[in-house]
Amino acid sequence: MKIAILGSGGREHALTFSISKSTKVEKIYCIPGNAGTSELAENVSLNINDFKTIYDFLKKNNVNFVVVGPEDPLVNGIVDYLEKLNIKVFGPNKVASQLEGSKIFTKKICKKYNIPTAEFGIFENAEDSYKYIDKAKHPLVIKADNLAAGKGVYICKEKAESYLAVKEIFDGKFGTAKNILFEEFLEGEEMSYFIISDGKTFKYFGSAQDHKRVGEGDTGKNTGGMGAYSPSRLFSEELEQKILKKIIKPTLKGINDLGTKYKGFLYAGLMIVKDEPFLIEYNVRMGDPECQTILPTLETDIVKIFESCIDEKLSEIEIKWINKNSLCVVLCSNGYPEKYEKNLIINNLEKLNLDKNNYLFHAGTEKRDDKIYAVGGRVLNFVCLSEIYSKAKINIQENLKKLNWEKGFYRKDIGYKVIDK
Ligand code: AMP
Ligand code: GLY
Repeated sequence: MKIAILGSGGREHALTFSISKSTKVEKIYCIPGNAGTSELAENVSLNINDFKTIYDFLKKNNVNFVVVGPEDPLVNGIVDYLEKLNIKVFGPNKVASQLEGSKIFTKKICKKYNIPTAEFGIFENAEDSYKYIDKAKHPLVIKADNLAAGKGVYICKEKAESYLAVKEIFDGKFGTAKNILFEEFLEGEEMSYFIISDGKTFKYFGSAQDHKRVGEGDTGKNTGGMGAYSPSRLFSEELEQKILKKIIKPTLKGINDLGTKYKGFLYAGLMIVKDEPFLIEYNVRMGDPECQTILPTLETDIVKIFESCIDEKLSEIEIKWINKNSLCVVLCSNGYPEKYEKNLIINNLEKLNLDKNNYLFHAGTEKRDDKIYAVGGRVLNFVCLSEIYSKAKINIQENLKKLNWEKGFYRKDIGYKVIDK
């Protein structure tokens, strides 16, 4: 079978790696991919939001199976588009993808089905927003209602910050804003919880804790994710039962009640407050770097899992996992998440110790004339599986030392909540 994967990040390299292990696959295309995927697949430089060009490419090359990594094409309806043209696609359709595409869509589902989430208010203009701020308790969370690549969320400690957030959102900092969302600030610990669904049934697909802030001790600006560990230390059977009963099942029912089905990965971003789960956000894809952290522990053939989802036969498959802890540290370009340099050469990659417990997944990299260059903010993901997190950390740090990339930095405290200092 020929498969195409859309996307170019660490998540997509991890997906390409898992797919390449499948006995069912003869050829993989990665659109557009990165230097890492080019070792396992043929990279094809196309715009992932140009559906017509993608379809033409798939048709010409007899590719009938597509896996979508990032949210953009999903929210824009690539699944509906390609399915109509008889291409099999793993991922949710346009209606279901609103769970990530519109925070207000999700909040309305939460309200209708009693799903625990932060108290909220929705406003259409700056004037009403300012009035609300004057009376609101701080800290106050303010969000733009569109895809903002993990940005577009403000945690405001005082009124002046809230005013500024409203102004920036309505001034179009994250694209045209029709609505703004205010949320109560939830104090707890975050956890990423994943399921895979075929529209009829769903199965657990891992849990993790991301480290979103750029600085050690969870300080500084928000990023796409500086590292993760899996499973989350908060995970327990009792908590999982609450997550399923109070959050996942009613959400999937909400999507069914709209006359459609949820097929694909579903990523619940949760805040755990005194052992109770609250939904912060949904993503309609795997997390990045959670995907890189979780996938090396997957034992079952991922292509068989994807096929069973598309054919609505997920109940017939058993998903097996390697019983080890996984840690992932992201190496970034100096300056990230703000300005950073591009086209920086990366040497020493051949010196790394990589084996069935130690993995390297590329993110913002490109291969030119047999040399590897950093072209993005998040550059490389170092992953290690181990019985104990502290050992995984040592192995990763040894590899980072071997690489000795002076143009980059990484958080030395990833997993600090599960690793004794
Ligand atoms: P989001 O893009 O909605 O995931 O928000 C980005 C980050 O902001 C989250 O990962 C949380 O750390 C934080 N956050 C979002 N909403 C809330 C909330 N209601 N209470 C506390 N923190 C929040
Ligand atoms: N790890 C955060 C995200 O994928 O959105």
